[in-house]
Formats: sequence, structure tokens, C-alpha cells
Amino acid sequence: MSGFQNKIRQIAKDTDKYLHQYFKKQDAKSYLLKSMKYGLFSGGKGFRSKIIVDTGKIFNIDYNLLKALSAAVECVHSYSLIHDDLPCMDDDDIRRGKLSTHKKFGESTAILSGNSLLTLAFEILSDKKFKLKSKIKTELIYSLAICSGRSGMAGGQCLDLNFEHKKVNKPRLIEMQNKKTGKLFCFCCSSSAMITEKKLSVKRDLCQIGSQIGLLYQISDDLIDVRGNSNKAGKPTKKDIKRGKATLINLLGYRNSLEFAYLLKNKLVNKIKKYGTKSRDLLESLEYIIHREV
Ligand code: IPE
Ligand code: IPE
Ligand code: MG
Ligand code: MG
Ligand code: MG
Repeated sequence: MSGFQNKIRQIAKDTDKYLHQYFKKQDAKSYLLKSMKYGLFSGGKGFRSKIIVDTGKIFNIDYNLLKALSAAVECVHSYSLIHDDLPCMDDDDIRRGKLSTHKKFGESTAILSGNSLLTLAFEILSDKKFKLKSKIKTELIYSLAICSGRSGMAGGQCLDLNFEHKKVNKPRLIEMQNKKTGKLFCFCCSSSAMITEKKLSVKRDLCQIGSQIGLLYQISDDLIDVRGNSNKAGKPTKKDIKRGKATLINLLGYRNSLEFAYLLKNKLVNKIKKYGTKSRDLLESLEYIIHREV
């Protein structure tokens, strides 16, 4: 296994361990809890956690704090996927190689488990166990709320659905993808600058780097949808075209989208390099996005 694979697996394992604390003292028989755990501990790659740890390394942040940030972000991410698969959204039956949460537990429970994962994210960040000054915690909570809600992930998901079967120009399409996927990555990158109380300009720079990483990640997800194997990806592929999704590939074609992705990656490498040798892991994660098959 490559160094990158070892690192991402270890981070995902540590994040899951951190999250398990929140399920320990709960009623094990609860149907809602079972479905939350099903959606959360179902073998996601943990890529957002990897980005948090990579950025944390640049700012020398304690790994325990990074685990809490990762736990919160993976909750928001898993919630977004549970809802994304619902019949009223992308209507997908398979996720992470298993039945989607609504297929296994029913739609109402899937909706409620998504909602509860979103609130769990804020429980984690406001918890006493997350040892930071109140001022910093408040800033983190505020930022995660902005990145997840109407002007972030949820807002982007709404645009994604509204754009189906419509001709959407490139700037609007990129705005949608930045919101639905980029914003959560903005939080992943800028949270480290919040913890170390960096200047606003540094926080903004990291937020922009994060958003662009997210955009690149979504484009690579769209490329996988076209060329990928559903068994490997653990979810249905070749569905975006059928559903008339507004993707860069449906607008510009596969080759042009690949070219766009490489240009974006090169721009990102230049932006990240200025953070010096400690940004090596973040650069390694960028290479993974471009070459990933899963
Ligand atoms: C899938 O995200 C949805 C996107 C925003 C591209 P991931 O590919 O990170 O999903 P998991 O967590 O590994 O299943
Ligand atoms: C999902 O994008 C983005 C989210 C914020 C959930 P997709 O709809 O392309 O994700 P997959 O392909 O179902 O994982
Ligand atoms: Mg979707
Ligand atoms: Mg989907
Ligand atoms: Mg997709």
C-alpha cells in the first residue's frame, strides 16, 4: 500500500474512533442510532479528514484537535450523502458498496439520521472535550454553519437539483460545485488558521485553496462517474448524463474537463507551495485527487 493510502486509512480510523465516543453511552437498540452509524461508519475514504490533517501540519496543530475537526466534518459529509441518495434527490440505491441508508432503514429514518448527524457535528465542536478558547470555538462553529448551510453545501445541492436538464453556463456551474463540495473543504483548510488565530488574509487564502480543492474533487468525482467502475467506486456510475446533471463534462466534454482539472491542480500547487516544506502532505493529496479511481 502506498504512503498516501496508509496515511488516509490511519486518519480515517482515528476519526472513527473519536466519533465512536459519541455513540457509546447511547441506547444501542435505537433505530435512529443504528441508521446514523450505518451512514457514518460505512467505509468512506475520509478524504476531508486527510485535508484537515494535512493543513493542520502546516500550522503545527495538535492531532487531537484535528481529530475533533475531522469528526465534525465527516458527520456533515455523511449527512449530505444520506440525503443526496434520497429518491427526491439523486435517487441512488448503493453507497459505499452497500444499500443507501434510506434503502436499508426507510426514508423517514434516513432523513432524521442525516439531520442528527448534522447536529452531532455541532455537538462535537461545542463539547468541553474540544479544548480551545471559547472565541475560537465560536468562530469554528460559525464557519462550519456557513459552509454547510444555505450559502454552502445545502445551497449548492439545491442548485444542483434545479440545474438538472437545463443549460447552465460555466461560471454558474462552477459556483454550484464550489458551494455543494468546495465550501466544506474551505472549512477543512481554514479551520487550522482559525485555531492558530492567523490574520484574516491567511484564513481567506486557505478558504480559497480549500474551495478549489473541493471543486477539483467534485470534477474528479464527475470524471469517475463517466469512466469509472461502479463496483470499485461503491456507487452507481454513468448516471449524471441520464439525469441531465450540470457537470463540466456534460458542458465541455471529457477531454476539456480533464484539461481544466490539470490546470486547476497546477494553479493550486503554486498557491500551496508558498506554505513551505510542511505543505508536502497537502500537495500529495492533490496528486491523489487527479489520479484517483475511487
Ligand atoms: C462523494 O464524496 C461526494 C462528493 C462530494 C464528491 P467522497 O468520494 O469523499 O465520498 P466517501 O466519503 O469516500 O464515500
Ligand atoms: C454530491 O455530489 C455532493 C454532495 C455535497 C453530497 P454527487 O451527487 O455527484 O455525489 P455522488 O456521486 O452521489 O457521490
Ligand atoms: Mg448529487
Ligand atoms: Mg449523488
Ligand atoms: Mg457524483
